[in-house]
Amino acid sequence: MLEVDYSREYERKWQIAPQFASRPCRVNVRIRRAKVSDAQHMLEMHQRLSQESVFFRYLRGHLPTLEELQEICSLDEKDGFVLIASIEEPEEKVVGISYFCVEPQNPASAEPAILVEDDYQGCGLGKRLFKKLAQHAHNFGVSEFVCYAHPANHRVFRMIERSGMRFERKYFQGMKEIRVLFNPIQ
Ligand SMILES: CC(C)(COP(=O)(O)OP(=O)(O)OC[C@H]1O[C@@H](n2cnc3c(N)ncnc32)[C@H](O)[C@@H]1OP(=O)(O)O)[C@@H](O)C(=O)NCCC(=O)NCCS
Repeated sequence: MLEVDYSREYERKWQIAPQFASRPCRVNVRIRRAKVSDAQHMLEMHQRLSQESVFFRYLRGHLPTLEELQEICSLDEKDGFVLIASIEEPEEKVVGISYFCVEPQNPASAEPAILVEDDYQGCGLGKRLFKKLAQHAHNFGVSEFVCYAHPANHRVFRMIERSGMRFERKYFQGMKEIRVLFNPIQ
């Protein structure tokens, strides 16, 4: 169980959206491996996202379907792995998703994906999910993550920087290619 301190988020959001002031400052977030039966809650999380988060994650308006999320959750361990972060409210609600898919041509390399629901961003959850994901990937023999992000996605660059892992980035076809190297994982 990870206890996230939302007081920092509260301060940030207070500047722009006073309605968030009623949010509790501390929420217990549980991080665990996703099951196929979690796909519905993952879909519901997508439906609560801001357009900006959808854009930065998918770079287009299309959200994944239930079937696509079920498929990701049923990945064989050698092909990938999915983690979810959830809270009890009082029923379980998914607020974060991270997963990686192993490159079929190069099993030492994998493409990661990460998404935190807007109300829970900026409080360390993304960084925590990303580091845990890297740890799992490392255990499965993956030695690097390679992903592509929009050059204006400063949050993801900051999150990777703050994760303490070694990384390189360069422009590739108008996007930023980020290569995260696992040795050593801190
Ligand atoms: C990228 C994303 C997963 C980061 O998750 P998060 O929970 O907000 O990240 P963290 O809280 O762990 O933040 C890590 C760092 O980024 C900073 N940060 C996060 N959101 C920020 C914001 N809105 N403004 C400024 N800094 C921000 C944090 O302050 C933190 O730095 P610090 O350790 O110096 O305080 C989340 O913003 C997201 O889901 N974005 C939309 C989808 C996306 O872009 N996915 C990646 C596509 S490649």
